[in-house]
Amino acid sequence: MTDQRLNVGILFGGRSGEHEISLLSARSILSVINQKTFNVIQIGITHDGSWLIGEDILDKFSSNRDLDSLSASIIFPDPDRQGLYEIQPADKDEIIKLFSKLDVVFPILHGTYGEDGTVQGLLELAEIAYVGAGVLGSSVGMDKGVFRDVMRANDIPQVETIIFMRSDVEDSLNVVIEEAERLAPYPLFTKPANLGSSVGITKCMNRSDLIEGLLEAARYDRRLLVEKGINAREIEVSVLGNDDPIASVPGEVVPSADFYSYEAKYLDDSSELLIPAPVPFEVSQQVRNLAVKAYRAIDCAGMARVDFLLDKDSGELYLNEMNTIPGFTKISMYPKLWEASGLSYEDLVKRLLELALERRAERDRTEWRYQR
Ligand SMILES: Nc1ncnc2c1ncn2[C@@H]1O[C@H](COP(=O)(O)OP(=O)(O)O)[C@@H](O)[C@H]1O
Ligand SMILES: [Mg+2]
Repeated sequence: MTDQRLNVGILFGGRSGEHEISLLSARSILSVINQKTFNVIQIGITHDGSWLIGEDILDKFSSNRDLDSLSASIIFPDPDRQGLYEIQPADKDEIIKLFSKLDVVFPILHGTYGEDGTVQGLLELAEIAYVGAGVLGSSVGMDKGVFRDVMRANDIPQVETIIFMRSDVEDSLNVVIEEAERLAPYPLFTKPANLGSSVGITKCMNRSDLIEGLLEAARYDRRLLVEKGINAREIEVSVLGNDDPIASVPGEVVPSADFYSYEAKYLDDSSELLIPAPVPFEVSQQVRNLAVKAYRAIDCAGMARVDFLLDKDSGELYLNEMNTIPGFTKISMYPKLWEASGLSYEDLVKRLLELALERRAERDRTEWRYQR
């Protein structure tokens, strides 16, 4: 009897600083995928960007051992060669063989080269369905500068921001400092435009912090942001869907540090998640409505966690950012908020795979050539 199951590729690891989080997310997802319905193919991307397959790959990635026992693999951008191919060494050459067809891919890759539209571009070219936002939604969600402009154009409240180029910082630091200090009084935040996990972000309390912060952000991107610092509570909400997205109950993060830094996110476990967020009903509704509006504005699909800053002093609500591939372990905020809204982790994964296939079907209705 032929195997009727759908071939699902789980793509994990990746080149970003969130490689390890991705492995944890992948482990959680794999533990709930029903093997009766799905034939699961695990694909690991190393820190250096090699795509590997093989026995016990997730354990090997997690322990960073025996990676050389794995085989190289590739997805071609050519739809006639759709699927995952294995690259085997042969004498002085290499042989490329079809390893498995792929009906849908779940790229559980956070950050650069995973969440930013690059992998999504490959899967589009290959005509393989995939979970999550497309190229545009991914890249706009990733770039904090363009994202703020798109939000402002849609009347979604944003903190005040200026974008600088790395060359501005290198060539005319005094002008940059002057403009930044004119934006708002300290504290100011400096950030690289494209990154995540709070890497390269500094809370600047004075001019010398600002100089350090600008140089730090400029290490990670050629575009950087200076923002007005808000004395804020951090409210997050999960959005799910394609053309008719829905929002979960909001949650609140109470960082263990002065702000939700890399250390507070991953290195100590005393940051708290409050679910549901203890905010008035009207605030919760506003969060949900703005999140869905923002989701549509960047043409997001599948899922996103939408993060807000709620000003403790003025009560003002700002939409801070959208994560199109949020942390996805069983104890991560995104699935936890759905659980609190009545959708279990297992059903959430199933729903995301369905949404990927629905989006693919919708794409197939589009005519690519002018036909008279
Ligand atoms: N304008 C701001 N005012 C106050 N806190 C901020 C501001 N921008 C960022 N933060 C703090 O820094 C953290 C990380 O910033 P964020 O923009 O979410 O970047 P990342 O994509 O790295 O998560 C936030 O969770 C928050 O704690
Ligand atoms: Mg964030």
